[in-house]
Amino acid sequence: MIGLTGATGQYGRLVLQHLLTRVPAEQIVAITRKPADLADLTERGVHVRQADYDQPDTLPAAFIGVDKLLLVPGAVYGRRFPQIRDAVQAAVQAGVSEIVYPSFVNTGSTRMNLGQEHAQAEDLLRSSDIAATFLRNGPYIEMYTNTVGMALQYGAILGSSGQGRYSGATRADLAEAAAIVLAEAGHTGKTYELGGSAFTQADLAAEVTRQTGTSVVYRDLPEADYAQALAGNGLPQDFAGLLADTSTAASRGDWYTDSDDLARLLQRPPTSLSEAVADALRAGTDATLDPRG
Ligand SMILES: NC(=O)c1ccc[n+]([C@@H]2O[C@H](COP(=O)([O-])OP(=O)(O)OC[C@H]3O[C@@H](n4cnc5c(N)ncnc54)[C@H](OP(=O)(O)O)[C@@H]3O)[C@@H](O)[C@H]2O)c1
Repeated sequence: MIGLTGATGQYGRLVLQHLLTRVPAEQIVAITRKPADLADLTERGVHVRQADYDQPDTLPAAFIGVDKLLLVPGAVYGRRFPQIRDAVQAAVQAGVSEIVYPSFVNTGSTRMNLGQEHAQAEDLLRSSDIAATFLRNGPYIEMYTNTVGMALQYGAILGSSGQGRYSGATRADLAEAAAIVLAEAGHTGKTYELGGSAFTQADLAAEVTRQTGTSVVYRDLPEADYAQALAGNGLPQDFAGLLADTSTAASRGDWYTDSDDLARLLQRPPTSLSEAVADALRAGTDATLDPRG
């Protein structure tokens, strides 16, 4: 059976949608803290089980009978690695044969703070008794296109990424790649760097301008000033600092990959920046910042 944690999350839900087109529902185990939110999947025959990384005793029973497990990291910076460590231990106990771990592009070489727990998780998995496969996800494009409302309001996108490129991909494309790796044989032990077509923040501003006719520019700031601007916009100081660090990381190339692994897995070009911006504008996206990292 194929299992995944984080089943009600934005990425997990999309992985489930794509998995259901590839394997029978009865072979899927969707693991979540909130089984009631997946009642639609229970009706379709998916096995929905409850577990919480923060209650490690709940994990082994949820993993029983699962051969391949997509271990979606939690959303809280600083908690991810201890949660994954407990989950890997539980997976060993339950007899899981392979863990597929979605980490970050360039994990291992990135100096970005957000990447460090993924590097720890990858190291742990490599030294564990379970076969491991790594999906090094590029930045979700939605983290940037979700701010087009604010960009249009202020006529500017702020950041500290300079000319740094983001190999952004939509959650849907990254989730489809995960479903392919889970459903097909032949991926075990591999590391995929999953990036879409690369763009700078200036490219994003130009694309929003092109599609809306409203001028939006990219304004590059020193990291500390960008963190201050985010904090001034209501984000907690620590989180503002973390986000500014991820922006500066792009200037060092940490969010960029020239790998075509995503296109090869999908057997098509990933969704482009232009399509993602159009989708965000169609959805009338609010001026929000993704607080999860
Ligand atoms: N590549 C990127 O750019 C990028 C950006 C942001 C985040 N991420 C990472 O990708 C993950 C998935 O992204 P997303 O957009 O789907 O985030 P999301 O919508 O916030 O979902 C986070 C998921 O984490 C699970 N989770 C949180 N705490 C948990 C706990 N204590 N025990 C078990 N599960 C827990 C939740 O599962 P249930 O609620 O179903 O229990 C939820 O489905 C994030 O958690 C984060 O690690 C990557």
